Amino acid sequence: MTLSPSSPNTEKNNLSSSFAKDILAGLEATPKYLSSKYFYDDKGSKLFQAIMNLPEYYLTRSEYEIFESYKTDLYQQFSKDVKKFNLVELGAGDGLKTQVLLSHFVEKEIPFTYLPIDISAEALHQLKSRFDKTIPSLNFEGIEGEYFEALANLKAKSSSEKATETRNIVLFLGSNIGNFGNENSLFFLKELAQNLNQDDYLLLGFDLKKHPQIIKMAYDDASGITKAFNMNLLKRINTELDANFNIEKFSFYSTYIPETGEVRSYIVSEAKQEVALGKLNKTIHFEWGETIHSEISRKYSVEQMKQITAEAGFELVKSYTDCKGYFMDMLLRVK
Ligand code: AVJ
Repeated sequence: MTLSPSSPNTEKNNLSSSFAKDILAGLEATPKYLSSKYFYDDKGSKLFQAIMNLPEYYLTRSEYEIFESYKTDLYQQFSKDVKKFNLVELGAGDGLKTQVLLSHFVEKEIPFTYLPIDISAEALHQLKSRFDKTIPSLNFEGIEGEYFEALANLKAKSSSEKATETRNIVLFLGSNIGNFGNENSLFFLKELAQNLNQDDYLLLGFDLKKHPQIIKMAYDDASGITKAFNMNLLKRINTELDANFNIEKFSFYSTYIPETGEVRSYIVSEAKQEVALGKLNKTIHFEWGETIHSEISRKYSVEQMKQITAEAGFELVKSYTDCKGYFMDMLLRVK
């Protein structure tokens, strides 16, 4: 049998996927890191759902409370002076929080369409079947693809209509913005503003700085689900890259730094050991106590977020918080 010249050893040196490339780059770097965006395979998404129900993880409950308390007000803001609106959600997850808004909005006069954008067709399919049962009258148009590509298409579509006809409202909830490093969050928000029309909205959910102990516990729960969530990434690497991480020989460490507002999470090697990445034909060496940085979950002050969003090209319409003042949703308008 002859191998075609373009595919020598594809089985052994498979670097064609960005997953493989990113994992290898992170494990060969000093210090080691992995991207938290790879947490969310099927098992990882289930573990994140379990995290959202943890007594320590207050974020989801806080935002849920905000939506329950202010859904009427949000509807008035969203529908003001337009004939219809689009709710474009970036990374909807299980959709439970958004459902609070959607089921309230479907009972009002102004029509709207819900457009969740996700890279995973399976995630969109699950979301669709959930809402088919819970809100059968919802106009649901899932978009499979990259956030900015999908937004650029929507922008082009709405620019051709009269400005007052349809308002695009992007939902970026759950403190997903916290996963970006400092400069990256500004970059992301700028990119977002550029892919929206003037007077379009962004509803941005983020976690506020607060007593460090409360934050620390949210990312180091007593039942070990957050640890399992991190370890699942090693399991995913084992499965997808034919690696041999011994999960027993790794632990989890996370810490909150009040000055920067960052929760930093790490996977820690509990032994001096070698791990083979079979599919990539590589071996990674670990020292005892060596860390793999796995996630940043950033907390902001109200002032900081006002400043970043203004610099990105948004103006604040209104902000909403829960009764404990733990979490905030800012309604922002493109300048
Ligand atoms: C989904 C990114 C908002 O950072 O709070 C939860 C993920 N990581 N516990 C967060 C997460 C550990 C979560 N986000």
